[in-house]
Amino acid sequence: MCGIIGYVGKKKALPILIEGLKALEYRGYDSAGIAYLKNNTIEMVKSIGRISNLEEKVIETEDSYMGIGHTRWATHGKPTENNAHPHHVGKITLVHNGIIENYKELKEECLAKGYTFQSDTDTEVAAAMIDMVYREEKDMQKTLQKINKILEGSYALGILCEDDTDTLYAVRKDSPLIVGTSTTGNYIASDVPAIIKETKVYYLLEPNEIAEIKESEIHFYKEGKEIEKEKKEYEGDASVRDKMGYAHFMLKEMHEETDVIQNTLQAFPTFDASLTSYKKIQIVSCGSAFHAGLVAKSLFEKYAKVPVEVTIASEYRYAPFLTEKNTLVIGVSQSGETADTLAALKLAKENGIDTLGIVNVKESSIAREVDKVIYTVAGPEIAVATTKAYLAQVTTLSLLALSLAYEKDNITKEEYDTIMHDFSLLPTKVKELLNKNYKEIAEKIYQKEDIFYLGRGVDYALAMEGSLKLKEISYIHAEAYAAGELKHGTISLIEKGTPVISVITDTNLKEKIVSNNKEVHARGAYILVITNTDIPEESYDLKIELPEGNPFTNPVLAVVPMQMLGYEVALLRKCDIDKPKNLAKSVTVE
Ligand code: AGP
Repeated sequence: MCGIIGYVGKKKALPILIEGLKALEYRGYDSAGIAYLKNNTIEMVKSIGRISNLEEKVIETEDSYMGIGHTRWATHGKPTENNAHPHHVGKITLVHNGIIENYKELKEECLAKGYTFQSDTDTEVAAAMIDMVYREEKDMQKTLQKINKILEGSYALGILCEDDTDTLYAVRKDSPLIVGTSTTGNYIASDVPAIIKETKVYYLLEPNEIAEIKESEIHFYKEGKEIEKEKKEYEGDASVRDKMGYAHFMLKEMHEETDVIQNTLQAFPTFDASLTSYKKIQIVSCGSAFHAGLVAKSLFEKYAKVPVEVTIASEYRYAPFLTEKNTLVIGVSQSGETADTLAALKLAKENGIDTLGIVNVKESSIAREVDKVIYTVAGPEIAVATTKAYLAQVTTLSLLALSLAYEKDNITKEEYDTIMHDFSLLPTKVKELLNKNYKEIAEKIYQKEDIFYLGRGVDYALAMEGSLKLKEISYIHAEAYAAGELKHGTISLIEKGTPVISVITDTNLKEKIVSNNKEVHARGAYILVITNTDIPEESYDLKIELPEGNPFTNPVLAVVPMQMLGYEVALLRKCDIDKPKNLAKSVTVE
């Protein structure tokens, strides 16, 4: 999603803006730009593609001490320089994250008042509206109060007004925005890592709040009244944005997985969410978080004997709302900002349903929306393809399912202790898997254009995550199929040499999936089995052996080889692993 950065202070602004934009690259973008005040005039520089293209156009030593910057992930209008932010209309220059839903009617209003437009964006319409209202109000504070009621949708804005040469304005509707502060100036940013090299002290702008930011003072307003806000300290540090010697953030973050599991186990006793009173659980999430929900479903239903429905959030929010009162709706989200998941949780809450968030970012929109929140402790995740955060989600959900199974006396104390002992061995086993060689396997499949992942039961959920990990960073068409489903159509796609990756950790279904593997093997498929059990040698070509586990820890173990394989394949295909094309780290628009 788009990223916003802004600064006003004693230091030269351009290096801070460029550094901030680089830190926001992980959010996904296809163009970027800055606007800065120089000799009381607002200058603007924009470019398509990477930040390095913008850097080539910018003289960072410019005598400027205030500015805004933006990385754009195209929604309205193609990724062109013309559509890149900032947008300048009249006295107003602004950057925008989110979507202005009523921009079409507002554009008509502006055109009727004589405004003309250079771009296809909703953002330029917002700039024109602000300019129009400002010319009536002659006061930015009053203007922005009015604008906050006029613009509909989810947005965060960073604004410069040419009449206020010492003030930067920020408005938040729904899209996240923080205000950073230091002894050398003040900042706005989509997240704290963007300014982590400047400061860790920030204010969280809440929905419908406005900030007036000067070099050495910040004022916050809501509904026309000045408000006081709590200063916060970010828990991460600058290493968040450092690959620490790894070739990619994704590789670094996979190697952090052992610590993530350790930290999750330590945090487990603090999970504040007793689920015993609920007759049903619904999990709403997207992408990998949806796959984590499917893993949870298999464990909650098999061991805690509670029915679980897992629904893609973008489907849940528009389906007929039939959720009954004694249901718990769990939203799973690494970023805590995924628009569809947030909307699904809001819908549940509006209907009086209890909500729980399993979220990796403190104070994120989802964390602030739900009745209760369990924070996963994966730490900030920069690579667009989630690895350690997904593993934290699965570990957290598995522990919750185990805890509920025990609370409901479905497992004995002895069984509980054995499983918890297995969890304590997970970090070592994950490290063993991370250090295996996946290059040889990657070399056998990286030039293929279609790869199938198979599984049954929980292994089908794992196959889904494995296929997403591969396709989103290597751009190979990969699909996961319920192994029993192949005969109903998909097997027609199997040709000689088609790679099939088969996940087998549920020994109860082993015979079934082995026979499915034999069906595709007989038709020429090249089979890689990822398993923790013995499999007939004639039914596969390659095998990745998993360390011994139990149903609660197997899902964590099985996904690590698939994450590493996806990484090695993408490496061979020379893809932009941390910032895959068209993707964003947090999908804050629907
Ligand atoms: C994961 O590799 C993907 N990048 C994506 O599917 C992600 O899991 C999804 O967008 C959900 O994000 P969230 O966990 O921040 O809500």
